[in-house]
Amino acid sequence: MMRIALFGAGRIGEVHARNIAANLRCRLAFVVDPDADAAARLADRYGGRPVAADTAMAAGQADAFIVASSTNTHAALLNALAPLGKPILCEKPVSLDFAEAEACAQRLDAADARCMMGFHRRYDPGFAEVRRRVQSGEAGRIFQLCIASRSWAPPPPDYIRQSGGLFRDQTIHDFDVARFLLGEPIASVYAVGGCMIDERIGALGDIDSAMVTLTAASGALVCICNGRFAAFGYDQRVEVFGTKATYLVGNVSADTVACGTADGWLSARPKATFAERYREAYERELDRFVDFAEGDEADIATHHDGLAAQALAEAALNSLQTRTPVEVFARAG
Ligand SMILES: NC(=O)c1ccc[n+]([C@@H]2O[C@H](COP(=O)([O-])OP(=O)(O)OC[C@H]3O[C@@H](n4cnc5c(N)ncnc54)[C@H](O)[C@@H]3O)[C@@H](O)[C@H]2O)c1
Repeated sequence: MMRIALFGAGRIGEVHARNIAANLRCRLAFVVDPDADAAARLADRYGGRPVAADTAMAAGQADAFIVASSTNTHAALLNALAPLGKPILCEKPVSLDFAEAEACAQRLDAADARCMMGFHRRYDPGFAEVRRRVQSGEAGRIFQLCIASRSWAPPPPDYIRQSGGLFRDQTIHDFDVARFLLGEPIASVYAVGGCMIDERIGALGDIDSAMVTLTAASGALVCICNGRFAAFGYDQRVEVFGTKATYLVGNVSADTVACGTADGWLSARPKATFAERYREAYERELDRFVDFAEGDEADIATHHDGLAAQALAEAALNSLQTRTPVEVFARAG
C-alpha cells in the first residue's frame, strides 16, 4: 500500500487526505504543515502522523508525495523532492513566477523526477469521455471548443491578493482542458477582460470576468468564458464541435429531480463549489496518481503540461495588457 506524505493541510489538502483515506491502494503516512493545528486535525481525521518536512522526506519513509501547500512553497518543495526518486503530485501552479516554474521543471527533468500536476478536470468522467471520443476520430475534424468556467461566488480579497490573478489561478485549468480535449498544441491567445462583478477585485488590480480565444495548431478555435461569479452555482460546461459530431458536457446538479407546477418546472441548481462539482474527478485523480506511481502515464498531466498551461496564462495576461493576439506556439505546446 503506497505511503503518501501530504504537504499542506488547507482546503485542497483536505480533499486529498479524504480521498487517500478512502482509497484502498494507498494510505496517509504523514501530514506536513507549519500550521500544527491544521496538520494534527487532518492526521486525526484521515490517519497518518503530523511531522516536520525532513521526517517525511527521510529515506524509507514515504513512497510518494503530494504538494498541496500554498503556491509560494511549491517550487522549493519540488526542488527538495526531485532527487528523492519518488512520484510527486503537485497542485497548480508550480510558481507564480514563470521563470521560476521553468527552472523548477528543468530541475525535475535533470533529476529524472516524475511529477504529476493537479489538473483534476482531466479525470472528470465527462471530460475524459469527450477526450476519448475526440481522439478516436468519431467526431471528424474538430473546429470549435467552447468552455464555460465560472465560480459561484468571488473569493475574498485575501485570496485574490496571493492568487496571481484570474488567468494564473482559474483559467489555467481551462487552458489545460483545452489542450487535453483537443490533444494538440495551442498557437495563439487573445484575451479580453475586466472587473464587472466585485469592485474589490478591481481595486487589487485583477479582473473578474474574461473571454479568451485560442487558436490551436490545426486551426481549431477555442473560446473560454471565465468569471468569478454565476448566479446559479458553479458553472462548468464544455461543447466540442466536430464535422461529424458535437459533444456537450453540462453542469452537474445536486440531484436530477425536476418538479413541475402551475408556475413551470424547477430543478436543483448546479453544485456550488469546486470540491463538490469535481468530487469524483479528485477521487479519480488520486487513483490515477497511484497508477502513475506504478508507471501508467496515459492522459496524466505532468509538470510539462503545468508549464504549457501556465505559458498560456502568461500569454493571456500579455494579450489583455497589449490588446493584441499573442503567438505562443514555440513556448506553450
Ligand atoms: N486543483 C484544484 O482544484 C485546486 C483547488 C484549490 C487550490 N489549489 C491549489 O492548491 C494550493 C493550496 O490551496 P488551498 O486553497 O488549499 O490553500 P490553503 O491556504 O487553504 O492551504 C494551504 C496550506 O499550506 C500550508 N503551508 C504553507 N507553507 C507550507 C509548507 N512549506 N509546507 C507544508 N504546508 C505549508 C498552510 O499552512 C496551509 O494550511 C494552491 O497552490 C492552490 O492554487 C488547487
